[in-house]
Amino acid sequence: MDLNLNGKTAIVVASSQGLGKAIATQLVKEGTNVMLASRSEDKLKAVQTELEAEGKGRVSYQQTDITKKEDIEALIKHTVETFGTVDILVNNAGGPPAGTFNQLDDEAWQDAFELNLLSYIRMIRGVLPYMQKNGGKIINIASSSIKVPIPGLILSNTFRLGIVGLSKTLADELAPHNILINTVAPGRIATDRVTHLDNVNADKLGKPIKEIEEMFKETIPLKRYGTPEEFANFVTFLVSDANTYMTGQAYLVDGGMVKAI
Ligand SMILES: NC(=O)c1ccc[n+]([C@@H]2O[C@H](COP(=O)([O-])OP(=O)(O)OC[C@H]3O[C@@H](n4cnc5c(N)ncnc54)[C@H](OP(=O)(O)O)[C@@H]3O)[C@@H](O)[C@H]2O)c1
Repeated sequence: MDLNLNGKTAIVVASSQGLGKAIATQLVKEGTNVMLASRSEDKLKAVQTELEAEGKGRVSYQQTDITKKEDIEALIKHTVETFGTVDILVNNAGGPPAGTFNQLDDEAWQDAFELNLLSYIRMIRGVLPYMQKNGGKIINIASSSIKVPIPGLILSNTFRLGIVGLSKTLADELAPHNILINTVAPGRIATDRVTHLDNVNADKLGKPIKEIEEMFKETIPLKRYGTPEEFANFVTFLVSDANTYMTGQAYLVDGGMVKAI
């Protein structure tokens, strides 16, 4: 199978750690030129150095707060100036805070909308002029909450479903330009985000974090958390030339955790 990612250009948002970093790493190994983006310049620099040692695709970064319109414009401008175009967009962001309905005010809802949905919309709008010329691939990272709501994560449960509606509608609108768009939803992939959420649950239930992890692992048929590399492998396939017919879908990478059909 030829992925044919060599020489393509990808923007991977929220790539200073976790899932975004793992996706950027796989793409660089395949020879893709990757633009990293997140708020922390120190972390981005370190990831750039690490990935450049892979020696295939070129790596650059743009310090970006993805909730800011002007930062998004600067990110796309820097990408096109550095690599010439955009072939692949991986939309991603930090997770919204945990909380139940009565713990969250208008500001929390507005912040989560801007971080977890509006940023995706703005990024897509920004890359379309480039993708409309030669086709492209867009991946929107969501959460298993698109299938089964997660207790205590109402912001995620609400806005991730917006991503699915957006992707499904755009699959139709963008198909004439040969732009394929899919949602990929992690279950429990071992990153700082999941450790943070396990700590929140540990505090809430007054149990050690190890017990919380074991509780979740019991619900996963494969009996373990996934690795960021396992998640990135699937995204890499979807954005590659090996995928020519899958669009408008929402895929889980969850070790079988979600029981919904
Ligand atoms: N890991 C899982 O199993 C899992 C499950 C369900 C959903 N998810 C969702 O998938 C996404 C990625 O998860 P992860 O596990 O990789 O999380 P993570 O380890 O917490 O990484 C989050 C990334 O987002 C960046 N970020 C946060 N706020 C940003 C902003 N305003 N602008 C630009 N970048 C920003 C962070 O970099 P800076 O701090 O440098 O900005 C970091 O690179 C999150 O939305 C998470 O909720 C993950």
